[in-house]
Amino acid sequence: MAALLEIDALQVWYADLQALYGVSLQVDEGGVLALIGANGAGKSTLLAAVCGLLEGRSSGSIRFAGRELLGQPAHELARAGIALLPEGRMLFPSLTVEENLRMGTLTRRSGYWTLPRVYELFPVLAEFRLRPATALSGGQQQMVAIARALLSNPRLLLCDEISLGLAPLVVRQIYAALEQVRAQGLSIVLVEQEVQRACQTADSVCCLLKGRVTLQGAANAFEYAQIAQAYFGH
Ligand SMILES: Nc1ncnc2c1ncn2[C@@H]1O[C@H](COP(=O)(O)OP(=O)(O)O)[C@@H](O)[C@H]1O
Ligand SMILES: [Mg+2]
Repeated sequence: MAALLEIDALQVWYADLQALYGVSLQVDEGGVLALIGANGAGKSTLLAAVCGLLEGRSSGSIRFAGRELLGQPAHELARAGIALLPEGRMLFPSLTVEENLRMGTLTRRSGYWTLPRVYELFPVLAEFRLRPATALSGGQQQMVAIARALLSNPRLLLCDEISLGLAPLVVRQIYAALEQVRAQGLSIVLVEQEVQRACQTADSVCCLLKGRVTLQGAANAFEYAQIAQAYFGH
């Protein structure tokens, strides 16, 4: 399978603190990569770097669809088809559900995902489309965030802890929706606290520990003990 995203020897610094030390990984076209690791391992930093949000703090190479991304401004990367679902959802509180969704269309990328199709994916959003986004439950707000990202018709969707703090039923709904999303051929990087869920959903897995890759391969290739060792370092 061809690689859509190829990261090579990525280093990131926050002033004196180095957050990533020579990380290399790849995401196949249409593939799902589970990015796991303890708090502070560097998962969100990696996603931010891929989105072009850490300009001037990173070195190495990030190739997307064969093109070097490092050094490109974030809006260029959005236009190229990279969408980030940041931790904590980041909806516009004064806007309705539908107004929030329309923000997702601003990249003007056309494709499968349209307003009617995201409403079909998450029918509850159609029902609440005229309500302020912040009047929705946490799980419904996460659905708005996912739908908004889809409306930019990305080729690569970066999901940062999208199930954090949500009830198990909602988490199952969200993962079921991701399966449908994936069936449309887009590639996903899934940062997830629940390692088992992540590995069940993904094709490949990459574990970070203190800014370094400690395990990488097919999602079903590892025993629990190997993953625990890579995750905790002992
Ligand atoms: N904006 C920032 N300024 C300074 N240090 C940061 C910043 N964001 C993250 N860090 C540090 O970088 C490291 C990696 O953080 P992060 O990428 O958020 O990890 P994770 O998402 O895996 O929990 C941590 O040591 C964290 O404290
Ligand atoms: Mg994080």
